[in-house]
Amino acid sequence: MKITVVGTGYVGLVTGACLAQVGNHVLCIDVDARKVEQLSAGIVPIHEPGLPAIVQEGMAGDRLRFGTNIAAGVAHGDYLFIAVGTPPDEDGSADLRHVLAAAEAIGQHLDRYCVIINKSTVPVGTAQLVRQRIAAALQGRGVDIPFDVVSNPEFLKEGAAVEDFMKPDRIIIGADHPAAAERMRALYAPFNRNHDRLIVMDPPSAELSKYAANVMLATKISLMNELAGLAERMGADIEQVRRGIGADPRIGYAFIYPGCGYGGSCFPKDVRALEYSARQAGYAAPLLAAVEEVNNRQKRVLERKVVAELGEDLSPYTVALWGLSFKPNTDDMREAPSRVLLEGLWARGAQVRAYDPAAGAEARRIYGERADLQICEDPYAALEGADALVICTEWQLFRSPDFDRIRARLRRPLIVDGRNLYDPQAVRAAGFRYHAIGRP
Ligand SMILES: NC(=O)c1ccc[n+]([C@@H]2O[C@H](COP(=O)([O-])OP(=O)(O)OC[C@H]3O[C@@H](n4cnc5c(N)ncnc54)[C@H](O)[C@@H]3O)[C@@H](O)[C@H]2O)c1
Repeated sequence: MKITVVGTGYVGLVTGACLAQVGNHVLCIDVDARKVEQLSAGIVPIHEPGLPAIVQEGMAGDRLRFGTNIAAGVAHGDYLFIAVGTPPDEDGSADLRHVLAAAEAIGQHLDRYCVIINKSTVPVGTAQLVRQRIAAALQGRGVDIPFDVVSNPEFLKEGAAVEDFMKPDRIIIGADHPAAAERMRALYAPFNRNHDRLIVMDPPSAELSKYAANVMLATKISLMNELAGLAERMGADIEQVRRGIGADPRIGYAFIYPGCGYGGSCFPKDVRALEYSARQAGYAAPLLAAVEEVNNRQKRVLERKVVAELGEDLSPYTVALWGLSFKPNTDDMREAPSRVLLEGLWARGAQVRAYDPAAGAEARRIYGERADLQICEDPYAALEGADALVICTEWQLFRSPDFDRIRARLRRPLIVDGRNLYDPQAVRAAGFRYHAIGRP
């Protein structure tokens, strides 16, 4: 099949590379000429396990190409994916500028029947808006060309994106009529062999399903973090509570880890966007606002714990930070808890020495050269002369460190663990003052 993906970020690039991997011919289009140049040279600009290999395989087999020319993109594919960003606007709503620009461009160049597939996370009603935008462009050109717009939200997780795309737990198709849904079934057949994962519904329900999934997960995290705060104040251990409630099959163990808050390019913006949509619909949705508020508070918890130990003025101190990405196995720092921590520590005058297995370069890109940030190439190097170690991201590498080496390098034996990685008794027995989330 011939497929075009408009927008070659995390979602678009994974979609394009995975579709090429099963034999399709894919052209990925992006407005970012530098990114296209890098990709055309076989360089994958993001850290995503398994992605470089399939990008390079697709390119070597001439099944995967990159370009900036949208007219060439529309000419190539019979399936046209829109996978551009939908960043939050100032009022919290999803900014549809890029989605509608892509729709407009498709309408300018469409010359035969195509299926246009909305893969970006978009508010309910956007499939309809995209349809209108394309129809208006066709009308402006004085041509009448049939097309379908299908909603196909993406559920991949950064850090496991290739695996998730190749073996999805569900493929949601929001289509207005069965013929369009059948075309999507054919497209996804290679990923749908073991059992039927396709769930076909109307476009508004498909659009809402994506937000519903993300706010459900964000809610679990915020509720656990709220309970962790309570546990801390009541002398209970949230890790024991977690096991106690996870054993109930109605609750389950997944996604109930307390921590220093959720981040990333999806949960924060999607919770806010749905909250905005609720307001637009004149419907009070207090739970959504609370989920966000709890998360914002939680992102400051590590700073509070450092201050409780070292005092309000941190200018005499250096803090070692392990983990910058918003979660392991990615270099993505969008809305990462580490950023709130860094900025909080800097505001109090602290020096920071940080280590992350993948996101060092991204931190340099965001913050540039500054005297109060040293990005280290080794986790133990980050500890040299620091007054505390703070852990923000649960990378595997941090799970079983050499505590003797840590103690030898830190100026004082203090660990503030934002991901509850260690056994408090063992860490204290190793001579540390240890603070975790929701543990006495
Ligand atoms: N990142 C995730 O884990 C994830 C998961 C599921 C869904 N989503 C959703 O998928 C969408 C894309 O997210 P992302 O993380 O891949 O974003 P991203 O910022 O990594 O990539 C978006 C890309 O679109 C390009 N672009 C913008 N306007 C364009 C245009 N008019 N034509 C061509 N290219 C254009 C940008 O240059 C950029 O490369 C968002 O709606 C997001 O909410 C993301």
